[in-house]
Amino acid sequence: MAQDTSFDVALKRSNAIWEDLDVHPEKYNMLTGDRPTGRLHLGHYFGTLKGRVDLQNMGVNTNVLIADYQVITDRDTTENIQDNVINMLADYLAVGIDPSKTMIFTHSSVPAANQLMLPFLSLVSEAELQRNPTVKAEMEASGHTLTGLLLTYPVHQACDILFCKGNIVPVGKDQLPHIELTRTIARRFNERFGNVFEEPSGLLSDAHLLPGLDGRKMSKSYGNAIAISMTPEETAKRIKKSQTDCERFITFDPENRPGVSALLTTASVCTGRPEIEIAEEIGNGGSGQLKKYVTESVNEYFAPIRERRMELMADTDYLSDVLNEGNKKANQIAQNTLQEVMDAMGMSYKF
Ligand code: TRP
Repeated sequence: MAQDTSFDVALKRSNAIWEDLDVHPEKYNMLTGDRPTGRLHLGHYFGTLKGRVDLQNMGVNTNVLIADYQVITDRDTTENIQDNVINMLADYLAVGIDPSKTMIFTHSSVPAANQLMLPFLSLVSEAELQRNPTVKAEMEASGHTLTGLLLTYPVHQACDILFCKGNIVPVGKDQLPHIELTRTIARRFNERFGNVFEEPSGLLSDAHLLPGLDGRKMSKSYGNAIAISMTPEETAKRIKKSQTDCERFITFDPENRPGVSALLTTASVCTGRPEIEIAEEIGNGGSGQLKKYVTESVNEYFAPIRERRMELMADTDYLSDVLNEGNKKANQIAQNTLQEVMDAMGMSYKF
């Protein structure tokens, strides 16, 4: 029998957790997060935000990190960061992340979690860091040199997961190396200093990877994204400007018709109808009719979310209370974990 690859192993582990989640949600503690570099878009929403809300509502203990220190991994400015943080929080709450159930916090406000970086860095070798494929890809995409922070951010991510004793991390396949590294760090810490950490698992999902309007990965920098925060008019304009092709009859064919197919997928995730059914219905109506249908589908789905978002953005006192509360709680948890780490390392001196 062929030996399982590390992906097969991670997949099996993830499948077993999915089965157990229904029965014992209370056993699980989820951590995930986003870099506050701009507005969250429909790719984020259908790819991960919706899934977080489901886990939250199933009774899993959930933690969501606004990863502000990760903004400077692959760029050298923190321009607009405060605005991005508050808007990210508004996006979270508007889509249904409930601060009475989910701890929402920022990196920069939790010094004890960041302090774990020091012992953790001692547990990994330079070679292990150098061969992380995600770090390499991010470096190439950014066009920047490999900074010390970019090289070591997977270790920082281990601090995020382990300070709050997260045991499940929803990830795409490309983030699995980070989870592997976190497992290695937890294991080595326990071996060297005593049992403090559980090895977390990546939770792989079959959530829809919604492409951008041109069929490429949805990204603000490609101009192919629809932000959750857009108005219906901005949404209509963005969809109207998207590239289709010169064939009138609408068919679903992602390989040969990336623009038309991405539009169909966008309508499909918003309406719950299969792409092919929508394509057949529009048929000879052409891309004009397709775009009209997509615009209506998106605007209808996001209307309540956007309305709630507007209300939230009008109440920044509330938003800042939510973040302060989350940060306070995260600090308590991080201080407890750091204390355990200090104890294990014999650094809780009593002179
Ligand atoms: N890397 C994630 C992103 O690029 C954000 C993040 C920071 C994260 N720390 C994490 C995700 C820990 C999962 C676990 O948006």
